[in-house]
Amino acid sequence: MPALGFGTLIPDPVVTMSATRDALEAGFRHFDCAERYGNEHEVGEALQAGAAAGGIAREEIFVTTKLWNSNHRPERVEPAFLASLARLGLDYVDLYLIHTPFAFQAGDDQDPRDQNGNVIYDSGVTLLDTWRALESLVDHGRCRAIGLSDITLDKLLSIYDSARIKPAVVQVESHPYLPETELLEFCKAKGIVLLAFAPLGHGMKPGLLEDPIISSVAARVGKTPAQVLLAWAVQRGTALLTTPKTLARAKENFDISALPQDAFDEITRIQTRQRLNDVVNTGSPGFIPQSKKT
Ligand SMILES: NC(=O)c1ccc[n+]([C@@H]2O[C@H](COP(=O)([O-])OP(=O)(O)OC[C@H]3O[C@@H](n4cnc5c(N)ncnc54)[C@H](OP(=O)(O)O)[C@@H]3O)[C@@H](O)[C@H]2O)c1
Repeated sequence: MPALGFGTLIPDPVVTMSATRDALEAGFRHFDCAERYGNEHEVGEALQAGAAAGGIAREEIFVTTKLWNSNHRPERVEPAFLASLARLGLDYVDLYLIHTPFAFQAGDDQDPRDQNGNVIYDSGVTLLDTWRALESLVDHGRCRAIGLSDITLDKLLSIYDSARIKPAVVQVESHPYLPETELLEFCKAKGIVLLAFAPLGHGMKPGLLEDPIISSVAARVGKTPAQVLLAWAVQRGTALLTTPKTLARAKENFDISALPQDAFDEITRIQTRQRLNDVVNTGSPGFIPQSKKT
């Protein structure tokens, strides 16, 4: 799996297509999708057009997509997976993730709520039930690897212990303000890739991009704050997802190089702690635009 991944959580379909093409042109070969993002069709079209224009073969591109919370019941997994494949226009995906460990009421409503506005969860299915259904997708050769997203170490341990096919990847929020060190150490010991989302702190300002330590390292090494944050993520042994929307930013985010050890250590010692995305506690995404909610 290429360490530098392009994330497709982009609300606008036109921007989804142009940003995906730009990412391909800049050199990204790892694309992170999800049925919940509502734009697999646009991502698939952009990948096909970009790959044809650039002479890039399917095998050179690593594509991930994710099973949404309302499809956790085992009988819903294969249909949801096949629908994602069809929207992406692919015969297989390289990686299929359970988007969050929370099962929502099964059905086509991706955001089922009661009259008080509370999420309706589904207590009739366990994460292991869903995992077993993903294992059979691997058995049938339609996805090369499976994993989990928005997962805590506790929940990962219970799946890891029971799984016939072990998780290959866990995708979680991770950056200098949320290093997830314990989870990363476990993943390294077990040969699982930790795939960091929000490596730029979702680009929020004030935030990581303006952190004084990041800014001073950037000035010292002649890179931008974004390049420093992405380099730190790769250097500590994670893969990452970033979502540049223009060709210039895609090139910037792809052009990273190793930090001097003292700069790397200085960033690792940052004490600020902040979780930006509460999805790990509730299954409800914090960064899906309102217009995409059903
Ligand atoms: N599993 C999950 O629950 C989950 C949750 C969230 C995200 N994800 C995945 O992770 C991917 C990455 O999302 P993210 O928000 O973490 O991406 P990110 O790249 O860390 O943050 C995106 C933000 O950073 C800004 N940005 C990008 N490159 C920049 C640069 N070089 N300099 C300054 N600002 C820059 C963008 O600004 P502009 O908009 O102005 O370009 C945007 O506001 C998503 O697309 C999705 O695939 C997964």
